[in-house]
Amino acid sequence: MRNSDLFHIPVMPQQALDLLRLPLGGVAVDGTLGLAGHAVLMAKALGDSGHLIGIDRDSASLVMAQERLASLSLRVDLLQGSFSTLDRILTSLKVGAVDGILLDLGISSFQLDDEGRGFAFRLDGPLDMRMDVSFQGVSAADLVNTLKEAQLEKIISDYGEERFARRIAAAIVMHRARTKITTTQKLADIILRALPHGYTRGRIHPATRTFQALRIAVNEELETLERGLEVCFKSLHSKGRLCVISFHSLEDRIVKNKFRFWGGEKTGTILTKKPWVADDEECKGNPRSRSAKMRAIEKSLPK
Ligand SMILES: C[S@@+](CC[C@H](N)C(=O)[O-])C[C@H]1O[C@@H](n2cnc3c(N)ncnc32)[C@H](O)[C@@H]1O
Repeated sequence: MRNSDLFHIPVMPQQALDLLRLPLGGVAVDGTLGLAGHAVLMAKALGDSGHLIGIDRDSASLVMAQERLASLSLRVDLLQGSFSTLDRILTSLKVGAVDGILLDLGISSFQLDDEGRGFAFRLDGPLDMRMDVSFQGVSAADLVNTLKEAQLEKIISDYGEERFARRIAAAIVMHRARTKITTTQKLADIILRALPHGYTRGRIHPATRTFQALRIAVNEELETLERGLEVCFKSLHSKGRLCVISFHSLEDRIVKNKFRFWGGEKTGTILTKKPWVADDEECKGNPRSRSAKMRAIEKSLPK
């Protein structure tokens, strides 16, 4: 059996626990369960009389997480779905409100390293990128082969913050007029050829930004986050806490603005004036943590 510890290292785990401050015997939600790296720690903080609810869009991750949580004695409910539907999930579980919610956005290394999922340009596989293969219809290949050039450019520019978005979009459209683009390697190759020579020698692989942009578009990650934050905040008890780890400036901006709004109308108290970031040691051991930003808010008592 594979040891899931090998496939994803949780980012800033102790900081997340400090900010969530889960009560013994409380109810908490890990809205992006992944391989349960954070969830195992949350479960320990809740103790045997607690209740942990784990949600993930990805059924393969849920199977791995279940294995890791199986030996714990608290009540654990794992469900496939989106944290943006937490209200409905809680109703189905007959749970009123919860003490803490964690959202650790994006994808896990487990998903990234599976060539069959098509998230990685370093591995050859179908150009898919859907987090939820069973329910979501549109794949990255669908977007790349059907969107208008201007739409592709906008996605690559906005979500990937790629300054050569226009050249990349033009190269994709030119290529697909001859043959459909169906694999990660083909797309990575087209991107590489579209870029000016010097640009390909940077610190990150030249396809990184475009792949990230397509993943965000396929999974409608920003729209889901906007909606999800509202639903999660509403699902908290007074004094309950929401902690969000983001990896993209657009995600962090959405979280910051929502938290400021709640702070301004005094329905919440912001616990992180500036986002918390991983220290040097963690960044060395887990390069993924370099771009992580953690923010948390506590729901106020009703007036
Ligand atoms: C960064 S990983 C979480 C890793 C986890 N904290 C751990 O330590 O193992 C993000 C996970 O969230 C899931 N995910 C992304 N967006 C989601 C959404 N809107 N609702 C539920 N799960 C989501 C992904 O499928 C992925 O498994």
